[in-house]
Amino acid sequence: MNVLLRSSTDDDVEAMLDIYRQHIQQGIGDLGEYEAEPLRAEDLKQRRKNMRKRRLPHLVADVDGVVAGYAYVVPFRKRPAYRYALKHSIYVHSDFRRAGIGRQLLPALIHACAQANYLQMIGYIDSTNAASLRLHEACGFQRVGLLKSVGFKYGQWTDSIMVQRSLGQGDGAIPAP
Ligand SMILES: CC(C)(COP(=O)(O)OP(=O)(O)OC[C@H]1O[C@@H](n2cnc3c(N)ncnc32)[C@H](O)[C@@H]1OP(=O)(O)O)[C@@H](O)C(=O)NCCC(=O)NCCS
Repeated sequence: MNVLLRSSTDDDVEAMLDIYRQHIQQGIGDLGEYEAEPLRAEDLKQRRKNMRKRRLPHLVADVDGVVAGYAYVVPFRKRPAYRYALKHSIYVHSDFRRAGIGRQLLPALIHACAQANYLQMIGYIDSTNAASLRLHEACGFQRVGLLKSVGFKYGQWTDSIMVQRSLGQGDGAIPAP
């Protein structure tokens, strides 16, 4: 399979929305059975623009012109003290799952974040999401926390596992101003 990892463009927005909607329908990960406000193409375009302005990577895995998955980061927290830390998300289309896309896309996101001089990446994963836990472990993330019963979907409480990995020198050096 020929996988091209590249920055997303406005032309990818509809395909990314399809993948996102699919996850809502399937109730996978942390999306649950419904979303409060449906995500619209315009919202996603605006989000992409804001991220680009702040040098926050937003990538797609392109398989022969088809968007098979996407991954992006947002600031971990908005307050300035947290400016070196990011929170990320990754979604792969169900037709392409377990075919190694995540295993290429997540390292590409990690690399792009390191290039942009960020120092920490953090993710929250539903404790039952074996695929995501395995993927993150394979990409150097460590489990750093368990958040008990923070989600509620399909009539059940769900736990989240917090994972983290450092980028570049991490906390091994004082960052340049
Ligand atoms: C999690 C997700 C991104 C993984 O992407 P993927 O392209 O299917 O994963 P890959 O094929 O690259 O596999 C990555 C690793 O996970 C393992 N894996 C994949 N699917 C798995 C499954 N269903 N159960 C257990 N392990 C699984 C693979 O064996 C591989 O491990 P390895 O590196 O030791 O060989 C994808 O399943 C997905 O989009 N899921 C729905 C959305 C989601 O949960 N996003 C993450 C929210 S935190």
